[in-house]
Amino acid sequence: MTEIQAIYQGKLNPLSAVKVSPLSRAYTFSDSIYEVIPYFLGKPLCFQKHFDRIKTSALLMDLDINFEIIYSDLKKLEKSFIDQDGYIYYQISRGIDSIRSHLYEDSLEIERFGYAIFTDFPSSAISAMLCEDYRWGKCNIKSTSLLGNVLAMNEAKSSGCTEVVMHRDGLMTEAGASNVFYFDSNGTIRTSSLTENILPGITRAILIDALKETPFLVKEGNCSIQDFDQSPCIWLTSSTKGILPLKKLMGTKYKLNSHYQGFKHILRVFNSAMKLHLEASA
Ligand code: PDD
Repeated sequence: MTEIQAIYQGKLNPLSAVKVSPLSRAYTFSDSIYEVIPYFLGKPLCFQKHFDRIKTSALLMDLDINFEIIYSDLKKLEKSFIDQDGYIYYQISRGIDSIRSHLYEDSLEIERFGYAIFTDFPSSAISAMLCEDYRWGKCNIKSTSLLGNVLAMNEAKSSGCTEVVMHRDGLMTEAGASNVFYFDSNGTIRTSSLTENILPGITRAILIDALKETPFLVKEGNCSIQDFDQSPCIWLTSSTKGILPLKKLMGTKYKLNSHYQGFKHILRVFNSAMKLHLEASA
């Protein structure tokens, strides 16, 4: 297996050679943000949108970042891809404390770490479990504080599921590592609005944008989990899953209707949009 190429504080090295301090605030407090940028045949999908989301997350965390350096790190890592599929994982922490302290020094040096990995992306339907969303109130930040997601997803794993669909007071929010869409019983496409304290997914945005050119009606807003029982198709969107239908959703009566044409159409719309984005990609 080829070594995974990593970058730490601007220096490229094999991942196994990267050494980090246990006093990194990423380690002690999850005081860090991250990004996952997918590559297809060596080309990034919507690089600028991912870069802009790093900026937004940094702003919301009050991280004092030189974005030219971040850009340069990402472009160095990007060179690992020739014509492979894969993704860049990139993480920025507030820095390394001299001793653990909730209150941080203003003088900390931002800590940058990332790697580029070659991988195939899944395409077959998966199972998920419905569960309560008990995460914090700033899920719009792409922070590495993902304990709520991790605990829920691993509870689902013990029931044979690889994802969760979360809700607050009966209203859908998102999945553990993806956004969620579904067809309601009228054939309208539904997804939670960004005001529901969810991550503004880039794949979500690509799909919603592409659907504007089609007869499909997309409603962003409140999504009752009771809708799932009648839905012919629920699907997830994420940079590493693309768009992926759910076979079943434990905790509901939902079962994927594999004859339903709507999803096949959506998949074609998404794939053509992705092709256009990749062709436009530098
Ligand atoms: N997860 N919601 C959550 C909670 C996520 O973690 C993700 C992505 C998404 C989808 O966002 P996007 O379409 O921009 O990838 C929604 C990434 C892939 C991860 O943590 O690995």
